[in-house]
Amino acid sequence: MKETELKELLNDMSLDEKIGQLVQLSGEFFQANDISYGPREKLGITQKTVDLTGSVLNVAGAEATRKVQDHQMAVQPHHIPVLFMSDVIYGYKTIYPIPLGLGATWNPDLVKKAFATAADEASSAGIQVGYAPMLDTVHDARWGRVLESPGEDPRLNSIYAQAMVTGFQDGLKDKKGIASCFKHFAGYGGVEAGREYNSVDMSISNLYQNYLPAYKAAVKAGAKMAMTSLTSLNGVPSTADQWLLKDVLRKAWRFKGIIISDYASIYELIKHGFATDETDAAEKAINASMDIDMKSPCYANGLKKLVTNGKLDEKKIDETVWRVLSLKNELHLFEDPYFGSSVEREKKSVLSEEKRKLSRKIAEEAIVMLQNKDNVLPLKPRDEKIALIGPYSTEHSLLGMWAVHGEPKDSISIEEGIKKYIPNIKVAKGTDIGRNRKMLEKLGFFSKEQIDQMISPEVIEQKNNEQAVSLAKQSDVVILAMGENALEAGEAGAKTNLCLPQNQLSLIDKISKLGKKVVLLIISGRPLVLTNIVDKVDAILECWFPGTEGGNAIANILFGKANPSGRLTMTFPYDVGQEPIYYNHMSTGRPVHNSQHVGRFVSKYIDAPADPLYPFGYGLSYDQIKYSDLKLDKEKLSRNEELNVSIKLTNDSNWDCKETVQLYFHDKVASLVQPVKRLLDFQKVEVPKNSSKEVTFMIKPQQLGFFDNHGQYVLENGKFDIFVGRNSRDCLQKEFLLD
Ligand code: NOJ
Repeated sequence: MKETELKELLNDMSLDEKIGQLVQLSGEFFQANDISYGPREKLGITQKTVDLTGSVLNVAGAEATRKVQDHQMAVQPHHIPVLFMSDVIYGYKTIYPIPLGLGATWNPDLVKKAFATAADEASSAGIQVGYAPMLDTVHDARWGRVLESPGEDPRLNSIYAQAMVTGFQDGLKDKKGIASCFKHFAGYGGVEAGREYNSVDMSISNLYQNYLPAYKAAVKAGAKMAMTSLTSLNGVPSTADQWLLKDVLRKAWRFKGIIISDYASIYELIKHGFATDETDAAEKAINASMDIDMKSPCYANGLKKLVTNGKLDEKKIDETVWRVLSLKNELHLFEDPYFGSSVEREKKSVLSEEKRKLSRKIAEEAIVMLQNKDNVLPLKPRDEKIALIGPYSTEHSLLGMWAVHGEPKDSISIEEGIKKYIPNIKVAKGTDIGRNRKMLEKLGFFSKEQIDQMISPEVIEQKNNEQAVSLAKQSDVVILAMGENALEAGEAGAKTNLCLPQNQLSLIDKISKLGKKVVLLIISGRPLVLTNIVDKVDAILECWFPGTEGGNAIANILFGKANPSGRLTMTFPYDVGQEPIYYNHMSTGRPVHNSQHVGRFVSKYIDAPADPLYPFGYGLSYDQIKYSDLKLDKEKLSRNEELNVSIKLTNDSNWDCKETVQLYFHDKVASLVQPVKRLLDFQKVEVPKNSSKEVTFMIKPQQLGFFDNHGQYVLENGKFDIFVGRNSRDCLQKEFLLD
């Protein structure tokens, strides 16, 4: 439609119709399938609002979306098509590893492909907007939603933001992409104490430095939509934060797209104590430039009153509706309301062999080898008797909580993957995933009967344990497949205990006493506390929720078809009491290492180390690349020059490897206290067996600045440290002066 026609359409619409465009409802209102997660209280809206609704949440599938579209267009006076938006977070039907695993690949090109193929599947199924990427910087593993984020580093997350947004959107012109709605703006990952939906309170410098860059990168990459956070930031709920949405997002970053509230978050302004009632909440949200009200009655019931009683100029509504209509027009929905979707295309697109292959490759690169004593891995199926034990051995639930369209039945279990190497592998369940009834109840999805099924009776549990121990006794190597329940991580999955469930720990104990080689596979949506396990097992692979091809990818790593190359993007704590813990923390006056003080009075714990168990950037491979000859081409740099940093990598092993070379810096003296290290750049390079390679980086002085407490970017001259290494802890170091 031409812009003039679109304007005519807007002029011709009644106020009710316009308001309808700003309302989003989920499938249950349209007699369609609905996989939304969220409170489902009755909204108190009229059928008229349902008929005029501008967008639909989480209805998916070519047939279902077509049915809803046909009906909605028929009842809408101007036959305006609805937009279908959905949670396509790390895959649609072909599921990739959870974003924390995607992050661990340090491979934005691959991640871009994952998002492009997810968009292809989703668009074939009638979805036009994906609620991703989730770009909240995460510092606290207690928070369940760390699963959805690429990790704790603002620079790395910004690179992924660009890859993810363009992955989704590059195919839009051919109707093979979907529009990207990044989220949750802003700072949701900073929830106090890691408790879900809790408040966020942080300095402006911290916000600009650590939390905003990834969202800004999404805007720069052209994301069409932004979703606000359910939380408050420095006292103001993000959903109605004029400073955040108008001054930062719209004015400073020039974001022209649609802003949508998160599920019911306009209504929740009342619970926040920020608005008196639905109408007040609607007024506060629209005045903050909020366009679409997801799943709340506020816009539907409040906006008209505001216009009628003169509190809101209809022009404001027009501006907002214009943004919604413009996206519909940009996607050519007025000409093709199905956006190229069809049952035939969907059949061809979803779970194609090519997509499975990509998912497998990404899962291989996402797996992080945390430990490999005496090179117990890779396994040698011809020489060793290998057993597979643990509740995740045969489990197909490897997708993680936010793969809402993925189906466990389509995923490859660990047993199935391993069988490709050892067709007659012996398997024992050993124990349940979890036996804590109270926690299973709190997950909120299971009926009493389901929980009864999930927790085996005591006698069966004992028998499972005995069978596992007896199988382990007959073996040389035991692969233990353990982990969290899929619903323990993800939204509303905050926990205070980050260890594996007690029943799994006690099985590990029993098996570790048999003197066999033990390889532990961990399926989890977050960093766990592994401190009490590391001495009981030989090797540990952090597999995350690895996605549809998880079992195959894990097997390929176990048997050496793939060399592990994943590196953590979130710190693994030594103890839960250290949370939040992250590598780029501020310098303190009494650091635990190199302090002028000795003994008690340093920044430490008296019952645990201050350092994490595994730092950011950490991961092992079957080779051990050596780093040497760190060189800076200048000792003194002026602002119009560039600094060249080089390092030599030597691979003496018989493994071809992919090494993620990480470059960090530290600003030694500044007008604001600075982080001990900040990631500046990285390269994932291939180093063939028995070879060496020089890797170089170019640094521009502009990259070395920081944000002050007015949100201004400042660069100060002085001394800087450069660190290059295999992770944020083990680095070579050199100093230079910016003058
Ligand atoms: C709530 C979640 O916070 C958000 O991430 C998601 O996109 C919406 N619900 C829609 O399902």
